[in-house]
Amino acid sequence: RIPMFRPLIQSWKRLPTPVAAHSMRSTSNGGNCSLKLANKVAVVTGSTNGIGFSIARRLAQDGAHVVISSRKQQNVDRAVATLKKEGLGVSGTVCHVGKAEDRERLVATALEHCGGVDFLVCVAGVNPLVGGTLKSSEQIWDKILGVNVKAPALLLSRLLPHMENRGQGSVVLVSSVAAYVPVPRLGVYNVSKTALLGLTKTLAVELAPKSIRVNCIVPGYINTDFSQSHKHTKPNSHSMYPPLLFPYRVGQPEDCAGLVAFLCSPEASYITGESIAVAGWSPHL
Ligand SMILES: NC(=O)c1ccc[n+]([C@@H]2O[C@H](COP(=O)([O-])OP(=O)(O)OC[C@H]3O[C@@H](n4cnc5c(N)ncnc54)[C@H](OP(=O)(O)O)[C@@H]3O)[C@@H](O)[C@H]2O)c1
Repeated sequence: RIPMFRPLIQSWKRLPTPVAAHSMRSTSNGGNCSLKLANKVAVVTGSTNGIGFSIARRLAQDGAHVVISSRKQQNVDRAVATLKKEGLGVSGTVCHVGKAEDRERLVATALEHCGGVDFLVCVAGVNPLVGGTLKSSEQIWDKILGVNVKAPALLLSRLLPHMENRGQGSVVLVSSVAAYVPVPRLGVYNVSKTALLGLTKTLAVELAPKSIRVNCIVPGYINTDFSQSHKHTKPNSHSMYPPLLFPYRVGQPEDCAGLVAFLCSPEASYITGESIAVAGWSPHL
């Protein structure tokens, strides 16, 4: 065997073995014990609106206790109240993922309410500038790469010991089809979303020995406030959206949620390092 691949092969050998799909223990949210994510705890960033909210709702519907978070307290309160009214097990705290003290608070909240974490879903992402890559200031580079790429890794590094304690875990990052085909004038954002594909692969290899899987969803054009605010990049608005990225319909946040629930479930126990498009159709790298 080639020595440079030895660590990789050793990591793969230690991937989690399949576990029973249904737990018979009681759920953290007092729900149905036969749900496939019963007794699990999920931390979801950027989860008070759009794709993140939909993912939080779906993981909770599947039995997990979900820790909701985003930058604004009123958004956290609203999301938590909405999901609690639906009978789901959720708690919440403010967390701007680019701020170290907020990440610490998110970790502390998850431990305080739930005693551990099984899943981390990093949805929060920003694009403060519509413009060319080389016209972006250093501040813009720092902001986009800080929130979109660095923050998921830094948050995971803080949660990792608590995920390891649970025996196995699942991390899901959120990229974009802009990683495959750059959307003109979303320069640095495109780069940040491509970087997440690399982060997924690297973390998957590094964390396999700890039985933690790392995958990435790659949404196409999804109907949310974020995509509305980038209307000029919308498919069919004859402009800048590359023809390759024309989906057969506009996606809904729920289209992403089912895939994340699957990637967290025991059915996905032999899937790691994958980036999966939720885009109707998409070219891959
Ligand atoms: N919509 C699309 O077409 C599309 C396509 C591909 C990829 N994506 C990716 O999907 C993710 C979610 O997008 P979306 O369309 O669902 O957006 P959205 O509807 O605007 O929701 C964004 C959510 O993230 C929170 N948020 C924003 N900045 C944050 C930060 N720095 N720290 C923590 N939370 C933050 C927002 O709440 P607060 O305002 O309270 O912070 C809100 O809950 C992003 O990573 C985006 O790049 C979206």
